[in-house]
This record gives sequence, C-alpha cells and structure tokens, in this order.
Amino acid sequence: MLEPDARPAGATRSNEARGKPFRFNPLSEEFHQDPYPVYERLQREDPRSRMLGSWIFTSFADVVRVLSSRTYSSRLFEDVIWKNKPDFGIPEPDPIQYFIRKAIVFTENPDHARLRRLTNSGFTRGQIDAERSLIKAIVDAAIDRAARDGTADVVRAIAEPVPLRVMAGRLDLDVDVHPDFARWINDARQLLDPGLMTRSDYERAHASMSNLLRVMHEHVDGCPFHGGSNLIEKFASARWGDDRLDRNEIQLLSIMTFVAGTETTKALIGNGVHLLLTHPDQLALLRRDRSLLRQAVDEVMRYESPLQQTKRVAIADSKFDGITIRKGEQILLCLGAANRDPAQFADPQRFDISRRNSDTHLAFGYGMRNCLGGALAATIAEVVIERLLVDRTDVTLAGATPRWQTQSRILRSLEKLPIRFGAAA
Ligand code: HEM
Repeated sequence: MLEPDARPAGATRSNEARGKPFRFNPLSEEFHQDPYPVYERLQREDPRSRMLGSWIFTSFADVVRVLSSRTYSSRLFEDVIWKNKPDFGIPEPDPIQYFIRKAIVFTENPDHARLRRLTNSGFTRGQIDAERSLIKAIVDAAIDRAARDGTADVVRAIAEPVPLRVMAGRLDLDVDVHPDFARWINDARQLLDPGLMTRSDYERAHASMSNLLRVMHEHVDGCPFHGGSNLIEKFASARWGDDRLDRNEIQLLSIMTFVAGTETTKALIGNGVHLLLTHPDQLALLRRDRSLLRQAVDEVMRYESPLQQTKRVAIADSKFDGITIRKGEQILLCLGAANRDPAQFADPQRFDISRRNSDTHLAFGYGMRNCLGGALAATIAEVVIERLLVDRTDVTLAGATPRWQTQSRILRSLEKLPIRFGAAA
C-alpha cells in the first residue's frame, strides 16, 4: 500500500543495458490516468525491472510468489513512516506510533498470525451474507436520496457514504455524532500510503488518529462485551485456546476496518458502476442472469483494481529465478498489471463478466496478508450494482468521461461519476 519514493522519472536498468531506454514515471499524471499501456510494455519487455532503487514486478506469477513468501515483508510501511515522520515534540504516547506498532497491517509473525486467527471469523463470507439486510438497507437509503433530484454523483452520493455507514453499522457506532469522522479516516488512511506524505499530512494524521482512538476507546468501553452480535462483541468473544483480544486490540481493529476499507470500497463501487454503464452488452448480460453478480464484481476488481500497487522489502538475500534480490531491497508489486497479465487471463484488456477465472485476481492481495475485508467489500459492491443497475433500468451516465482521483497515486478511484435517473428502459 505504499507509493514509490518521490523522485524524478527513471529508466529501467535492464532496458538501458539493452540500449532501449523506456521511461516510466509512476508519479506522472499520464501514467496515473491510464497505467495500462505502461504495464503492458513492462510485462512484455521487462517484467522484473529496476527503477528508482526498487524492483518493479508486473507478472501475475511473480506477484503471487512474492506475496506468498515471508522473505518479503511489509515492515517497509513502518520504516517509511518512521523515516519521514516529523518530530512533533509531543510526549508519549504518540498516536501514530501506537497505531503502527500495533495495527494488524504493520505486525509480523507471530503477532500477525495471532491477530488473523482471532479476527477472521468476523469477515467470512457466511458472516457477511448474514449482514446482507443491513447492507441493503444502507444502499437503498443512499439510492433513494440520490434519485430524488433526478441526477446524482455516484461517488459522493453512494460510493462514499455506503461503506462508511456499513462499517459503522457493523460496530453499532453512530458516526453522525462525529461530523468529521470521514475526514479523520481519510487523514489516517494516508499512513497506509505514506510515500508522498508531507509534514502537514502527518500533522493531520496525528490529530485525526488521536480523535479516532478517543472515539473508539469510548465506544468499545461502552459495549457490554458479551452476548451481543455486533463486530466488537464478536471480536471480544473470539478465542484461540486461552488466547483472546484485549480492549486496546479491539479498538485498533475497529479503526483499521474504516481505514483500510472505506476508500478502497468507494473505489470499487465507482469503478463497477462506471464499467457496467460503459459496457451495455455486459450490463444487459447481468440483467438477464443475475447469478453473474459475484463474477461481475470479481471482473471489476480484476479489470480496474482499486489498489493498483503494494510493496514489500526483502528481509534476506534471495534468488528469484535469474536475479538476486538483496536484503533491504524494495519490490513494487503492480497488482493492476498482474490482473491484466495475458499468461493468467485470456484477452486481458477485455471487460468480460462471464470470464471463468476472474476470481483469481490479486486485487485483494494474496496469501497470508490477503485482504481481511474482501468478502465485505465485494458484497457491498454486489448490493449496490444489483439495486442501482439491475433492479432499476432507468440509470444512464450524465456528463463527460470522468477523471481518476489524484489524491493517492495507488488508488484507482473516480473523482466523480454523474448519472441521471428516469431514462426509458
Ligand atoms: C475493494 C475494497 C478493498 C480492496 C481493493 C482491498 C485491498 C487490499 C489489499 C490488496 C490488501 C493486501 C495488501 C498487501 O498485501 O500489501 C489488503 C489488506 C487488508 N485489508 Fe483490504 N481491501 C479492500 C477492502 C477492505 C475492507 C472493507 C476491509 C475491512 C473491513 C479491509 C481490511 C484490510 C486489512 C485489515 C488488511 C491487512 C491484512 C493483513 O495484513 O493481514 N480491506 N486489502
């Protein structure tokens, strides 16, 4: 979930060596708006390139192999934060320090495996399916509000509020009493994406993390902790032998669901609605056969992966086929490229909801650190697509080709997506 270091455009060493300079600047606006031609070229010419002091992997098989191995660690997130974090001169406990010491994304084994064992049950497909009626009620309320004026921006009216309200609903947390809650989450989210954070970003993240810790502390303390069915009570009753989560861990896990889940799910919803409205043949297919819904969401995840890249750092020297990756070297894993690798997906540049293996995409990561909330995000997107585009047939695009947001370089998420209600079916 990291950005590459903010330095000028570079050239891949191996291509330079072959006398074919191929300039690739992952921070350029051109790449950000349309990364796929670059991914395709890297995959064809140099799937394990080196640039800006980092390895860049674009093939499906290589990304799977790195994500499957404990030789490549995500400790890097923590290191980047430490390296760049200004000294606020604030006495301990520093909320950022506390978060990155303890939150699941930053932990290593045995702590990481322990946290996964004690949290997985709150996020299984079965658990999420049992919460469909909560999700449906939130989605329907957002669509009804959006449809009132005849036009709406899907991003602001549906993609943004729905994941936040679902996460809050699962925790029985009333976010309306904290008008800045969504902003706090967004500020804190940057800690998962710290490559380009400025001093003022850190200051905002610092203040927002303090607020989140305070609110979640009060909320978790106020929960009865036994007998109930919300996620906090599920976390509280999870057992592995004699082991259990303590209240501080439950607070952090609750914050983590918002921080890791809201912007990413917002991206998935916007991308899904956009792709289906711009591929009327695929939408017609889905309307004829709604059993394709799950597959359609997988294909959206594959085709426009909300999180385009993640990173690892080698914790030991390792041989990787023909190359040696040295201890301390970073690897940028291009999930968005791997998901369009022709070695894994036939005709990968085609958006095809009937594709048989779209569920093998890597958009939720892979292996021991794969996304904890994948089933939840996919279910939210399924419900939005079903209620907005399958049950209704009166929604059309309104306005010019939308642009991709630029606040984060690794999130593929639309800035806005205007739609009109009331078109003849
Ligand atoms: C479309 C929405 C989502 C996308 C694209 C997404 C993507 C990812 C990816 C790629 C990873 C692995 C990162 C890595 O290996 O470096 C990850 C991990 C994670 N995700 Fe998600 N995610 C989404 C939604 C959610 C939701 C809804 C939640 C929680 C409710 C969540 C919680 C997490 C957590 C806690 C981790 C870290 C897991 C660990 O380190 O063991 N995500 N996500």
